Amino acid sequence: MQSELDSFEKLLTARYSCRAFLPRPVPRAAIERMLEVAQRTPSWCNAQPWRVHLTSGAATERLRDVLLEAARSEPAAPDYPFPREYRGVYLERRRECGWQLYESVGIGRGDREASARQALENFRLFGAPHTAIVTTDEALGIYGVLDCGAWINNFMLAAKSLGIASIAQAALASRPMALRRFFGLGEDRRIVCGVSFGYEDAGHRANQFRTRRAKLAEIATWLDA
Ligand SMILES: Cc1cc2nc3c(=O)[nH]c(=O)nc-3n(C[C@H](O)[C@H](O)[C@H](O)COP(=O)(O)O)c2cc1C
Repeated sequence: MQSELDSFEKLLTARYSCRAFLPRPVPRAAIERMLEVAQRTPSWCNAQPWRVHLTSGAATERLRDVLLEAARSEPAAPDYPFPREYRGVYLERRRECGWQLYESVGIGRGDREASARQALENFRLFGAPHTAIVTTDEALGIYGVLDCGAWINNFMLAAKSLGIASIAQAALASRPMALRRFFGLGEDRRIVCGVSFGYEDAGHRANQFRTRRAKLAEIATWLDA
């Protein structure tokens, strides 16, 4: 059992958010395996609310163009509100991972133009050959979103186990109208998140840092008596 846990931890530790991909496509059979494995994700009442629209080849290129245009011309209006505020330790952690990225790619503190350019990389899908747009059923509310979050994590871990890098991208959910038009999604489907994936550009500066995690004392409260 210990060695299974060790393997699991190794996989979790090896995964990171990739922000520069090689253009080389992932074979369809590998993507299907990732989807099959992620299907084992538990969900409330086994509803399995996730539906996923995947792009490859020319479709990814068209999506890149559509998203870049939407990012420039449409205001952000996600189906599910983005965090109202990052405060206290959450603000600290957010700043830390932001600075790690900026330092990696050589963006100086306060360089708004360069940071806006880096933010736009989201809509260029960081050069990934594939994106998955994950949606839930509107009627399932917040727990449908929770189930999708678990699915996304399992999808990314399945990818990593096949040597495929990925990044979850809430940024893509900020332009739901563009995605609705592109994929022909009905109003009953709510956009949760995107996941771009492919092979990592290992030498790229954006992929040179790794994020930390809080110590157990910061997240666990024990009651023993
Ligand atoms: C639900 C979710 C949405 C995210 N959205 C974005 C995003 O839009 N853009 C981005 O660059 N990173 C995004 N990330 C990546 C996080 O910044 C990253 O997971 C976090 O900093 C921890 O780093 P790691 O994934 O490398 O371990 C997202 C992650 C999650 C789980």
